[in-house]
Order: sequence, then C-alpha cells, then structure tokens
Amino acid sequence: MSANMEFVFPKDFWWGSASSATQMEGFSEVDGKGKNIWDYWYETEPNRFYQGIGPDITSQFYTKFIEDIQLMKETGHNSFRFSISWSRMFPNGRGDVNEKAIVFYNHVINTLLEYKIEPFVNLYHFDMPMAMQEEGGWESRSVVDAYVQFATTCFSEFGDRVMKWFTHNEPIVPVECGYLYGHHYPALCDFRKAVQVGFHSILASAKVIKVYHEQSLGGKIGIILNVTPSYPRSNQPADVDAAEKADLLFNRSFLDPSVKGRFPAKLVDMLQKENFLPKYEAEDLKIIDENTVDFLGINYYQPRRVKAKESMSNPDAPFMPERYFDYYDMPGKKVNPYRGWEIYEKGVYDILKNIQVNYGNIECFISENGMGVEQEDRFNNEDGVIQDDYRISFYEDHLKWIHKALHEGVNVKGYHVWTFIDNWSWLNSYKNRYGLVSVDLQDDYKRTIKKSGYWFKKLTENNGF
Ligand code: BG6
Repeated sequence: MSANMEFVFPKDFWWGSASSATQMEGFSEVDGKGKNIWDYWYETEPNRFYQGIGPDITSQFYTKFIEDIQLMKETGHNSFRFSISWSRMFPNGRGDVNEKAIVFYNHVINTLLEYKIEPFVNLYHFDMPMAMQEEGGWESRSVVDAYVQFATTCFSEFGDRVMKWFTHNEPIVPVECGYLYGHHYPALCDFRKAVQVGFHSILASAKVIKVYHEQSLGGKIGIILNVTPSYPRSNQPADVDAAEKADLLFNRSFLDPSVKGRFPAKLVDMLQKENFLPKYEAEDLKIIDENTVDFLGINYYQPRRVKAKESMSNPDAPFMPERYFDYYDMPGKKVNPYRGWEIYEKGVYDILKNIQVNYGNIECFISENGMGVEQEDRFNNEDGVIQDDYRISFYEDHLKWIHKALHEGVNVKGYHVWTFIDNWSWLNSYKNRYGLVSVDLQDDYKRTIKKSGYWFKKLTENNGF
C-alpha cells in the first residue's frame, strides 16, 4: 500500500464491473440462440436504433471472451458480473435446453475462475425471449413459471461454481421502458400493465430465490436495483410529498418486497385509490414474504429531482407516474457534459445510508456506476489510448462517498463499474461509451485499455487511492 493513500477499502472488497448478455455477447443468431425482444425489434424496426446498429453483433464477447477475461485481469478485476441469456439457454423460452449455451457459459465461468475473477451471474437483464413475449412477457403467469425453469437449470448447471446470483437487473426498467415510456419492446403506454409486469417480476424473483435456497448450493442470491434517490425541490410539504411518491413508485416498489418481503402500504394505497392493483393469487404474497434476498446490488447513475405538480394532468391522457409529481431542473446542478446526465456523487452515500437505516443494513454493493461519453474517440492520444481523466474523477468522487458510508458502518462489500468494455446499449446502441476498455467498431472490434482501465488496476491493487 502506498504511504499517501487517503481512501482505503477492506481487504476483500469486490472490485470489478458489470455487463449484460445482449449488450456484449453478439452472435445473436448463432449456435441455436433463440430470438429475444431486441433481436425481434431490430429485425422489424431497425431505424429505432442509433445509427441502425442492432444487438446482432455488439462487442463480440461470445467469441472474444478469453481475450476479454485476460483484459479484466489486466485491469485489476477480482469479480465480474455478466448475465445469462435466457433465449440462448432456452431458444423457445422453455422446453429443451440449448447444450451449446451450457458449453459457452461453462467456458466463461471456468475461465473467470482460472483467472481468479469471481463470476457474479445475473439471470435477467431486459432480454425477454420473443416466444415468451408472445405469451405476454412479464404480464403473464406462465412466463413467470418458464423463468423459474430457466433459473433452476442455471443453478443445476453452474451453481457448483457460481456463488453470487441475481434474479434481475433493474426490474423497474422493463416496467418503465416497455410499458410506460416506449424505449423497450413492446413500447406500450399502459399503467395497468406496467403494474402487473412489476408485480410478476417480483413474484418471479421470490420464486427463484425459493428454488435457490432449497438447493443449498452454498452461495447467495440477490437482486440488482437502480435506486434513484428522489430529492424534493424544497422542504415545502407538497414538494416533500411529491418526492416521497416518486420514491415509492420507482425505488420502494422493488426494494421493499425484495428485502422486507412486502410492498409499502402507502404504495398499495396509492394504487388501490386509482384501481390499479395488480391481479394476484393469495399465495403470491406469502411467497414474496418468505423469500427475500440475501444481498443487494445497487446501481447508481443520477438522482431524481422532483417538485409538487403545478398543473393538473389532462384527465384524458394516459395515466402516468407523473400524475403524482413533476420533474424539476435544479439550477446549478453538475452535469456530465458528454452525456447530459446529472452528476451528484453524494447520492450514492444517501442510498447506502437509507439501506443501513431502513433495510436492516443488509449486505450490499454498488453493482453499477459509470459515466457515458459520446464520441469518446475524440479523447484518444496518439497511441489510441483514450485519456478519460473525467471518468477517473467521476469514480474517485463516488468512491469517497462510499468510503464514508463504509466507515459509518454500512455493510457495503464492493464496487462494480459500468462497464468493463464499451458495449451496445439498447436504443442508444454505441452512442455513449462507458468502458474501461474501448472497442473499435471499424477495426475488428479491437480492444484497447483506456487510461481509466490502468487507473482501475492501481485502485484495486492498492485497495484504495
Ligand atoms: C444501466 C443499465 O441502467 O444503464 C445498462 O443497466 C445501460 O444496461 C446503462 O447500458 C447505461 O445506459 P445508456 O443509455 O447511457 O447507455
């Protein structure tokens, strides 16, 4: 350890990065993989995707994973999160498993272990198999059962070596993007369906947690939530109430059932008042209550700034969460000039303290935090190495707050950045680059470690900075 380190982290802190199958693997038509909603959408509406680049190719992890895992080692990873593609494992969502998918994921897991990088495996990252979407996706109970089958197969194939599992990444995102705001397939705007999708995602998570615990495989299972702290414009009761409603809808809707086993009473009241409670069976609530997570991954990018509604919503417009609050553009806020998102480092501390105080200080880690940059090749030096000092500062500034939380007793075990390598991001495709390693789309997807990748190696070697 160097003498002048100010921010030192515990010895076995999890340092690494996160990724997802659709965003990284590519080869979406290869080796028996079935179509998921992204493959289908790209096939039918390619113009929705930035520069017309779809999920078929992405960063080619499917063939380059050995080189990539070596790069993870070179950038100091001791852990790495990836997701298993449901439609690669089960091309039709259920039924016969694709043996080639098992071979691939075994190879990835074994290579990671060989390099002493712990695999963190997520089971669902926005990638509903198309066959399941045709049955209604998360709206449908039969899809919940198919997901349980998929997860059970993953546990029996990989559970002897994978000790950290996650049932979902950011389950609020398919709710918002698929059923309210139109960024993901099926691009509906239907509050009732959105609530049902959210409820079934939680039910699916609890059912899978139950299966995992029954198998006694010796590991842990959790969920990854994008917790977005809601800050009111002022201390006026109406603003505070608006912030609380946003928090209930976007954060506590998943945090409470995942960790405490029950939905917040205030949220239930809000939905009941508007007659938006989901359909459920009595037994569902028992399953959710009895099968909570062992630990929690928290993704943090930016806060939500809200104020009381200043004008009535048009009663004829579709019902949206914004019936309860308005967004507020805070003057003087710090902004990432290359992506437009607010940067508010203290947000990560506020989330961690909230987990400590209100969620029994459950074991957690920061499972995504990152800074997207448009046209990042403008920051190349003459050797083609991106000089991303802005990203290094971004990470350090967040780590300082995580360090403070740690020293105040928060049970935070690690920090994963988004992401290891520049990857394809849904409708934004390759617009915003986030990697510690760059990918050159014009030159056979050549990988080059960025300045932040070298910084990350030092950070993890020193366990601090
Ligand atoms: C996270 C998601 O919320 O945001 C990732 O888990 C996504 O899948 C990332 O890529 C960044 O989003 P964007 O739109 O800036 O690429």
